[in-house]
Amino acid sequence: MLTVTLEELDVLSNAIRVRYGIELASYEPIAFSRRVARALYKMDCESVFVLWRRILQDDSLVYQFLNEVTVGLTELFRNPALWKHLRDEILPFFPAHLPLRVWYAGCSTGEEVYTFSIVLYEVGRLLNSQALATDLNTQSLLVAEAGKYDMSLWEQYAHNHADFSSPPHRLAQYVKHTADDFTFQPFLRQQVRFERFDLTHDQTTQTFDIIFCRNVLIYFDDTYKQKVMQKLTDALAQGGFLVLGYYDNLPPQLPKNLEGYHAGHKIFRKNC
Ligand SMILES: C[S@@+](CC[C@H](N)C(=O)[O-])C[C@H]1O[C@@H](n2cnc3c(N)ncnc32)[C@H](O)[C@@H]1O
Repeated sequence: MLTVTLEELDVLSNAIRVRYGIELASYEPIAFSRRVARALYKMDCESVFVLWRRILQDDSLVYQFLNEVTVGLTELFRNPALWKHLRDEILPFFPAHLPLRVWYAGCSTGEEVYTFSIVLYEVGRLLNSQALATDLNTQSLLVAEAGKYDMSLWEQYAHNHADFSSPPHRLAQYVKHTADDFTFQPFLRQQVRFERFDLTHDQTTQTFDIIFCRNVLIYFDDTYKQKVMQKLTDALAQGGFLVLGYYDNLPPQLPKNLEGYHAGHKIFRKNC
């Protein structure tokens, strides 16, 4: 496989920033150069220069490139124990008569969104919730909004859901099947707004009770990890929870008003 120098990364990142307003300089450089090398291979480009020219000529390729370098890996009910913990230990903090405000930051193709919608539905709280689902990658967001997935994923997803659900509900009740794919029922996304949001750039003035930002910080260098953690903490209501991913490492310093809540599940709470 090709190697990509830091200088080449700089040139490519600058071009993408100027043309598309996407900030790749936030990514940790050594891991990022490995992922760019893999993207070159997969996108059939013999050098960074060829990729750079193709991306500048064809808008859609920048999202294919982002898909390759940020790996939108996700899963329905990934880590069932986490979702049980949220259902049994975290949701009771929020009175059921108040709307629960949720942000899925870096939702990729939306499996996390449907997961928590199902959690909320099964405890009778879906209708009184308002959610925002965001990602940098607009192609992933289109999939998320459509809620349509390949049948090859079904077995794993149904298995994860069965692990979570008690009393057992069947995942099949939430989808419409064809031979090749399955689509989540529209009521699961009725309370959800899907929007592009770049965590390194964009600002929000909204306030949330629970923010999911799982397996997104992994990409950022320490400076950006710190900035993004602060942005997420600022967007939390007092007493609100931030849920990070299994693979996320923390920045050297947590925001002052954020404290660890559950180490195993990487859950944090904004000071009351
Ligand atoms: C591994 S996926 C995580 C999906 C989901 N949160 C989960 O854990 O199942 C990482 C996602 O982060 C998104 N991402 C990367 N950089 C981002 C940024 N600067 N702003 C917003 N999203 C970003 C990617 O597009 C990708 O969809």
